[in-house]
Amino acid sequence: MTKPIYIVGGSKGGVGKSLVSMALVNHLSQAGEEVFLIDADTSNPDVWKCYEGEIASELVNLDEADGWIRFVNICDENKGSAVVVNTAARNNSGVASYGKTLSQSLEELERQLVTLWVINRQRDSLELLQDYIDAIPNSTVHVFKNGYFGADAKFELYNGSKVKKSVEAKGGRSLLFPDMADRVSDDIYSNRLSIAKAWQTMPIGNRAELRRWLEEVDKVFGPVAANG
Ligand SMILES: Nc1ncnc2c1ncn2[C@@H]1O[C@H](COP(=O)(O)OP(=O)(O)OP(=O)(O)O)[C@@H](O)[C@H]1O
Ligand SMILES: [Mg+2]
Repeated sequence: MTKPIYIVGGSKGGVGKSLVSMALVNHLSQAGEEVFLIDADTSNPDVWKCYEGEIASELVNLDEADGWIRFVNICDENKGSAVVVNTAARNNSGVASYGKTLSQSLEELERQLVTLWVINRQRDSLELLQDYIDAIPNSTVHVFKNGYFGADAKFELYNGSKVKKSVEAKGGRSLLFPDMADRVSDDIYSNRLSIAKAWQTMPIGNRAELRRWLEEVDKVFGPVAANG
């Protein structure tokens, strides 16, 4: 079986794209998958900085046609690896302009495209999602309501939306991504740790919280990141 391409999107700043990307890289690696990380946030490549040297990775600017060409070539050159793409804020304009470079290559690549769309509770998250679905219609899209912004019931705009119905009609899921205690996330971010490094180096109390969070994360990823 070929390995999926995962795009972690959201197109909004600060919704949790980088943390979801890190959690996904960790989940796949723990499951024994080879992972190739593309960090498309070339001005602030936080995920790349945490994983550089630990897994195969590259910075690729998806605001430009050249970047999409490189992205497709990486998918072809690394057929044995799942490809995880951490996107930057405002990435939707690049997707609208050049996303076809990828979507029209999927068949030849023999890869499935899975998008994890990270949202906060605001309306523009949903509008941007609809724009993304229109630009890349052949991706399975799962929506990650980031629990950092509140409990599931607080995502009432999304929970009652048309876009939720269309996501789920195409087999996508709507999931709550678990909140991690600030003390642990601050440590990971400020020390540029991969999750595996954090696990090795953190004090016992922090590790207990990390374990709790990772168990929750595994439940969320189970149905969306099954071995492709
Ligand atoms: N589920 C979560 N649990 C704990 N903290 C979170 C969670 N999601 C996001 N955060 C916090 O919110 C901040 C922004 O998260 P993150 O960097 O992942 O967002 P982003 O969408 O990648 O932002 P940018 O657009 O700037 O790249 C971080 O400081 C992170 O610690
Ligand atoms: Mg980010």
